[in-house]
Amino acid sequence: MLEQRLPGRLAWLAALIALSAFPALAAPRRYALPEPTAELRPPADGAHAAGFASAQAHCMICHSVDYIAMQPPGKGAAFWESEVTKMVKVYGAPIAEAQAKAIAAYLSAQY
Ligand code: HEC
Repeated sequence: MLEQRLPGRLAWLAALIALSAFPALAAPRRYALPEPTAELRPPADGAHAAGFASAQAHCMICHSVDYIAMQPPGKGAAFWESEVTKMVKVYGAPIAEAQAKAIAAYLSAQY
């Protein structure tokens, strides 16, 4: 009985060894990731570093950065000031006046 099965087992073993000779078949897949969209854009101008830091600390407490990134580009200072004011006054974002100003300035420069 055993003698009859042995050739079959040897064939499997030979197939396994043959397959392992092709490491490409076992190599990990690689994917190129898209630009990260879950982070705020770093400020192009160093003057907005404080606003950027405050935005990072406060603007993703309740929702993702997508809410900011989804807005049409170039809306300007008035739009971002009123957005930040709305977050504070209507939704209760815990942001001090001076920080709110810096955040709005950073956002209007970068978005
Ligand atoms: C206290 C929670 C909270 C914080 C903190 C917060 N938001 Fe919001 N934000 C909201 C809510 C609630 C909405 C409305 C969600 C909806 O309508 O589905 C919203 C919506 C938005 C929108 C979409 C446009 C709109 O007016 O509805 C933008 C842009 C936005 N937030 C920007 C910001 C920015 C910038 C900051 C930081 C200064 C911030 N948010 C911090 C709660 C918050």
